[in-house]
This record gives sequence, C-alpha cells and structure tokens, in this order.
Amino acid sequence: MDYVVEMLNIRKEFPGIVANDDITLKLKKGEIHALLGENGAGKSTLMSILFGLYQADRGQIRVNGKDVNISNPNVANELGIGMVHQHFKLVHNFTVTENIILGLEPKRGLSVDVKSAAKRVKELSEQYGLNVDPNAKIEDVSVGMQQRVEILKMLYRNADILIFDEPTAVLTPQEIEDLMKIMRNLIKEGKSIILITHKLKEIKAVADRCTVIRRGKFIGTVDVDSTTKAQMAEMMVGREVLFSVEKPDKEAGEVILKLDKVSVKSNREGVVAVKDFSLEVKEGEILGLAGVEGNGQSELVEAITGLKDIVSGKIFINGKDISNFSIRERINSGIAHIPEDRQKRGLVLDYTIGQNMVLEIYDRKPFSERGLLNHNAITEYAQQIVEDFDVRAGQGVESVARSLSGGNQQKAIVGREIELNPDLLIAVQPTRGLDVGSIEYIHSRLIEQRNRGKAILLVSLELDEVLNLSDRIAIINSGELVGIVDAKDTNENEIGLMMAGIKRGDTD
Ligand SMILES: Nc1ncnc2c1ncn2[C@@H]1O[C@H](COP(=O)(O)OP(=O)(O)O)[C@@H](O)[C@H]1O
Ligand SMILES: [Mg+2]
Repeated sequence: MDYVVEMLNIRKEFPGIVANDDITLKLKKGEIHALLGENGAGKSTLMSILFGLYQADRGQIRVNGKDVNISNPNVANELGIGMVHQHFKLVHNFTVTENIILGLEPKRGLSVDVKSAAKRVKELSEQYGLNVDPNAKIEDVSVGMQQRVEILKMLYRNADILIFDEPTAVLTPQEIEDLMKIMRNLIKEGKSIILITHKLKEIKAVADRCTVIRRGKFIGTVDVDSTTKAQMAEMMVGREVLFSVEKPDKEAGEVILKLDKVSVKSNREGVVAVKDFSLEVKEGEILGLAGVEGNGQSELVEAITGLKDIVSGKIFINGKDISNFSIRERINSGIAHIPEDRQKRGLVLDYTIGQNMVLEIYDRKPFSERGLLNHNAITEYAQQIVEDFDVRAGQGVESVARSLSGGNQQKAIVGREIELNPDLLIAVQPTRGLDVGSIEYIHSRLIEQRNRGKAILLVSLELDEVLNLSDRIAIINSGELVGIVDAKDTNENEIGLMMAGIKRGDTD
C-alpha cells in the first residue's frame, strides 16, 4: 500500500453551505501533494477533517491503509499527522522551545525538561535546515521564522504526514524560496506533504501531484509535470483564465496626486520612513510603487490617506493642498483606498456586508436623512456592488463580513472603493493572498478605472503585478525615490536592482 492517507468521498456541511461534497484525496508516501482551489473552495475544511478539528458527515479516512476515526487533533498527532495553520498558534512571550513543548504531556509525573527539549529542537532544526534558535522569543522573530517554529512543532511530535495550509501567503519571495527548500528536505527525510495553495507557480516549483477542488466539489487529481498552469487554473476556476490583462495604450492626463518632498516618520520608533519623496500620479495612468516590504511604502500611503501626519513637504490632490486634511476630508476630495490589511482597516468584520459598503458614506444622502439611516437605500446600494463585483456570500448583503472568504472580502472592498468614483484610487497589495480568478478580476477592474481616466497608485510587493499593470513604475528604497521608469521600457531585473537601491545607469 503506497498511500499514507486516503480521504474517500468526504462530505461536510455547514449551515447553508456544503463545504466538502464527495471529495477524495489520496496522499502517496514521499510526495508533495498540492491541494488547489479558489478561496472558499473547501480546502481548509478538508484538512481540518484530516487533522481532527472537524468531523466529516460522510466518507472514510484511511491512514497507512487502516480505517481511522480522527475524532480530535490528539488522535491526528498519534497517527503522525501534523498541521501548520494559516494563522499561527504561537504564544508571543514564550520562547521557541516553550512553544514547541506546550501542550505535551509531561512523562510520568516529571515536568518537561526544557533544556533537553531545546537540545532536541536544535537537532531537528539542523537536520531539516530550519535555522531556528530554540531560545529566541516568538515576539522577536520574523513571520517566516514563526512558521518554521510551527514546522518544528510537528517534527518534534514525530509527525510524518505534514499539512501546510497556505504557508506562503504571509512570506516574502525570499522566505518562499527557503520554504520550498525546507519542503524538499522534509521529503528527503521520508515525510509526506499536503500543500494547500492557490499559487500555480509554487505548485509547479515543488509539487508532484495536485488535487483540485472547486466550490466544495472534487474536480480531479493531476500529475504536476505533465499539466500546464493554464490547465490547472481552468480546473480551479471552471473557465479559461487570462494570465495577463489587456491594456490599451493611453495618454496620461492632468496631475491628480502630487507629492512634494514628503517626509514621514516610521511606524517603528524614531526613524524617518519616507524622505523628501516627490511623485506625480496622473489621470488615466497606473503608477506602480515597487519596493521590498518595509521600505516606507506603508507610511507613504498612510500619509496620503491621512492616517499619519507628515513631517515636512506637501500633498496635493487636483492642485489643492490637502496636507492637513482629515481622513474624511480627503475621501471627500476624491481619494479612495484599498488598504493593505483588509481585515484590520478594510472591513468591520462583525458588520454585515451591507453596512460595510457604506462605512465612509453612511452619513450622506440617500443613506441618511435627517439623522436617520435609510436601510433600503443602503441595501440597494450594497446589493449593486455585490452583484457588480461578484462578491460571493451565503446571505448576500446580510452576511457578516467575517464569514466571507478572503477573496470575497477583497472584492467587496475593491467594489466599495471604486463605487466612490474617486479621482485617485490607492490600491495597496490589492490581490495579496487571492486566487488567480479573483486576481484576474481585480486587475481588470483596476485597468477599467485607468481607462476611464482615473489616477491609480498601485503599491505591491508582487513584481509581476507591478510590471503587468503599471504604466510607470516608481521604485522606493529606504524611504527614498530611487527612480521612475516606463513600464514598457524596463524588466524584472532592472526593477530588482533598483529595489536594492541601485539607480539606473549606475555601473560597477
Ligand atoms: N466553521 C464554519 N462554519 C460555517 N461555514 C464555514 C466554516 N468553515 C468554513 N466555512 C465555509 O465553508 C466554505 C469553505 O471554506 P474553507 O474550507 O475555509 O475554504 P478554503 O480554505 O478553500 O478557502 C466557505 O464557504 C466557508 O465560508
Ligand atoms: Mg483556507
């Protein structure tokens, strides 16, 4: 028997939705098996069943050929199944080792010996190339490192069936490369891996086989080498996917946003994050701001949207100095903002989608009149956005924002901001963590705005995205403008060098 896990005809229903409808997934020993599907397809649900967090309504699970009943995560652990969740479950003021041994039963009345545990953690870290310091505090280490602690946690418990739930969503490109290496090491040491993702590039890079599910249904299992990205994308989305969006040539018009020598303090103590930054974004253009994470992009956007004061310089919209305007006044001046963190800044998660669609404008007519909210007008307005932007939610505008998948939350935010009909749309990481179908959709809506003569400032860590969408690209490094290039007249290499602070024409 060469399957370590067989999940057969699994069904799981939540109130109002069949999250898994007759899904079968078989994991071979020593393979990396990708589980591919759009946001909300049912991937996490299926894996939560394998990890004992949920019980299937129907279907069967076999581990190493034996029927099993995984009634809780302890049973999963005993069967050698480990899982790294989308959101890590680490205690921030504990050390790496303390986190790893947390929850383990001390043997025979002895308390767990932290010293020998730390030694074991170190050995495992070295064996698998994880590069983790057993004594570091979680709050002091990077997100990538925290993820490796989660991996160690599985290894420490002797798991040999490892589930990764969208592990790369939170990582930088370099950390992603490192993780791919680690996965290959794990396979070499005899582990088997299920990798949940919606990134085809990653599947191509590491996976052997791939199971695709769509809206809770099993679509197929394919061999990765002999299947193209386009074929997998089509299985996932259910239609052909265009990987690049058509963008007609267009002359840029008047200057909409003008930054004149803007400096902004860092979100970290003391330092200046943005220094003397000057930039113009014009009507009918997408200006992409490229940079490595943490080079001042966030602070710059916060300064433009009014979340943060500037230290010096001036910000103009349509020629008007808005440097001292409140957030509300800036929105009224024509700025819309798709924020970096859709859950913290984009939506009020406990509000309905309807309420979320009028967050910035509920006090305007017709949504409020003489101090009273007009619920019908709000519902009608929200309904239109939900339809126009393909926001899929169980109970439509009445759905609580929290219950939507990430992709649908993001489509709702994009719809809301575009519906404001702004002169300037600031889109920060608009497709972070989304599947190709949603990415394609959001890209086409951004280009549509540009074609309609809007100015768009696109801030993204995805170089592909910046290159595909932008008309001009500004590169930021350590808070300073390195240069501005024409998107047609540059490439990934040049931008990459500029992101590292090397100006065009610099030789040596
Ligand atoms: N605990 C839950 N209660 C109700 N609905 C849920 C629950 N967990 C997931 N769902 C719903 O089930 C569907 C599949 O979700 P999920 O498995 O998280 O998808 P994926 O991981 O592929 O993005 C979604 O529509 C989601 O809203
Ligand atoms: Mg998920």
